[in-house]
Amino acid sequence: MTGLVDTALDRAVVPGYTKIGYWVRRRGWERDDPRPGALHGRRALVTGANSGLGRATALGLARLGASVHLVVRNEERGRTALEELRGELPGADLHLEVCDISDLDAVRRFAAGLLARIDRLDVVVHNAGALPPERTESVDGHELSVATHVLGPLVLTDLLRPALAGRDPRVVLVSSGGMYTQRLPVHDPDYRRGSYRGTVAYARSKRMQVTLAPLMQQRWSTDGITVHAMHPGWADTPGFASSLPLLRTVTRPLLRDAVLGADTIIWLAATEPTPPGGQFWQDRAARPEHYHKATRETEDERHQVWAWVLEAAGLDPA
Ligand SMILES: NC(=O)c1ccc[n+]([C@@H]2O[C@H](COP(=O)([O-])OP(=O)(O)OC[C@H]3O[C@@H](n4cnc5c(N)ncnc54)[C@H](OP(=O)(O)O)[C@@H]3O)[C@@H](O)[C@H]2O)c1
Repeated sequence: MTGLVDTALDRAVVPGYTKIGYWVRRRGWERDDPRPGALHGRRALVTGANSGLGRATALGLARLGASVHLVVRNEERGRTALEELRGELPGADLHLEVCDISDLDAVRRFAAGLLARIDRLDVVVHNAGALPPERTESVDGHELSVATHVLGPLVLTDLLRPALAGRDPRVVLVSSGGMYTQRLPVHDPDYRRGSYRGTVAYARSKRMQVTLAPLMQQRWSTDGITVHAMHPGWADTPGFASSLPLLRTVTRPLLRDAVLGADTIIWLAATEPTPPGGQFWQDRAARPEHYHKATRETEDERHQVWAWVLEAAGLDPA
């Protein structure tokens, strides 16, 4: 496939985000699939692993040989997913972990407990996501989408550094194409001002993931961690159905399934050589971070938001 067709799919949104884009691009990937057993002997952690893309990612990583920790916020839903996944892949090394990623104390407790049980971790997929219909605060008093998509993932990764350090560790942030519609929320990261719209809050927090990925990578560079932001296109998952019912009705025959949506997450986690970090990916290719001049932030604004995020997460700026 030519770069021109790929770019046209990307800019036209509907074909690029649905399974049309996946199948057109897929024809160029035959030799690019992670090799069988690519993650043998490696350990991965996937948040929001009981549903949709997280569940498909956990299964995909386990199929490549990884031991996979499924992080869920609801133990019962997690146990159901764990049993189903064991049925789909007998012999898979799967572990159930309970943690609400939006709750920073819960994240700290979870990270400490996990570090006491494992000595290495190779892949972290920050997939847990939500689109709150009305403004909701996390237990720490932050708007829920920024707490779930940015603060929790940052704290979790930072605390897991002792296990991640050294052997090509990779962190994947599952963002969204919706972030193209929003600027970095420099002056109101907690969305305290103006009338709240869940889709805007969601897209702002997903923009933060993409913009901050290079700064996270820089923070963890001495441990060799690469940080990859990506978007899965549109995949027919329980979350998509409940958050965007109208879009789902209109696009349903064309939507990806969770396996197609998870493809680039798994590829970023397992392909060799390691893709360059700090970039934004879709369908195994780095994509622009902006399509509109109006959404561009300055270097100074990026650092302002980074400073806010570090403080809100209770992390040392160093
Ligand atoms: N599907 C798409 O087309 C699409 C497009 C762009 C981006 N995404 C992103 O892809 C990711 C997965 O979404 P999905 O479509 O697979 O939706 P989903 O089926 O609703 O899955 C989301 C998962 O995240 C979990 N979760 C939510 N808040 C959590 C928290 N505070 N702590 C721990 N787990 C939490 C959910 O747990 P419960 O089951 O307990 O609710 C669920 O397991 C999200 O980050 C979403 O923003 C999806």
